[in-house]
Amino acid sequence: MIKRIAAFFLAFVPVVVFAASGGALQSSAATVNNKASLQRGAAMYMSYCAGCHSLGFQRYSRIAQDLELSEEQVMSHLNLTGGKFADQIKIAMDPADAQQWFGKTPPDLSLIARSKPGGPDWVYTFLKSFYVDETRPAGWNNTLLPNASMPNVLWELQGIQRPIYGEGEHAGAPAKLELAVEGKLDPKQFDAKLRDLVNFLTYVGEPAGMQRTSVGVWVILFLAAFTFLAWLLKHEYWRDVH
Ligand code: HEC
Repeated sequence: MIKRIAAFFLAFVPVVVFAASGGALQSSAATVNNKASLQRGAAMYMSYCAGCHSLGFQRYSRIAQDLELSEEQVMSHLNLTGGKFADQIKIAMDPADAQQWFGKTPPDLSLIARSKPGGPDWVYTFLKSFYVDETRPAGWNNTLLPNASMPNVLWELQGIQRPIYGEGEHAGAPAKLELAVEGKLDPKQFDAKLRDLVNFLTYVGEPAGMQRTSVGVWVILFLAAFTFLAWLLKHEYWRDVH
């Protein structure tokens, strides 16, 4: 009996397949189950990104509900563009102006943590890959998105990275970046801040993901227990037949 039960459970040991992570992306270890991190990430998004990037699929009220914040907290600390509580998160800037200033309208970031290869890791790596480049209009370039028209809005926190160029066939493209001027945060603190931000964008990409992962565990446990009962029952019936 014991052997049979063991065999039953072994058959259900989940096979974990690790998806190959894309190229040189760094791991953001994004998780949507840390509310404190999501709250910090939301605050960071609103102060550093919302000036240019909208979150058209997300409403202030939904953020309040999911992140366990009051309407007052959201409206006074997170809403910097003057929208209503029930509104989607828009930008104050006129898209035509943005086009003129940056040569490109900053894209909506609602789905950015899902749409890029590598998802959250892409966003994380992108935000760490800015370097000074005098030849670019805004003075910045990016190794992950060469000639990106976005300036490094986090440089005060991160510091300024300088490119070290490769040799031979790789000449011309920075082989790596080094911190030339220190920022307000040391690299570890900066990474932690970025993780909060990327966690928040991951949550925005799929707000139901938070509930899905917590409900999912119970569903699997229920199914396992139920299957076990059904199996015992089957065993009981067949004993009479034999
Ligand atoms: C001053 C305006 C501005 C601010 C502030 C800003 N961005 Fe951007 N961002 C842009 C522009 C312009 C682009 C388009 C870059 C391109 O494709 O050349 C962009 C592109 C991006 C992309 C790549 C999108 C894609 O589809 O390729 C990501 C990701 C991104 N921004 C994230 C952020 C985050 C996170 C913040 C806050 C920390 C932020 N941005 C703040 C202007 C801005």
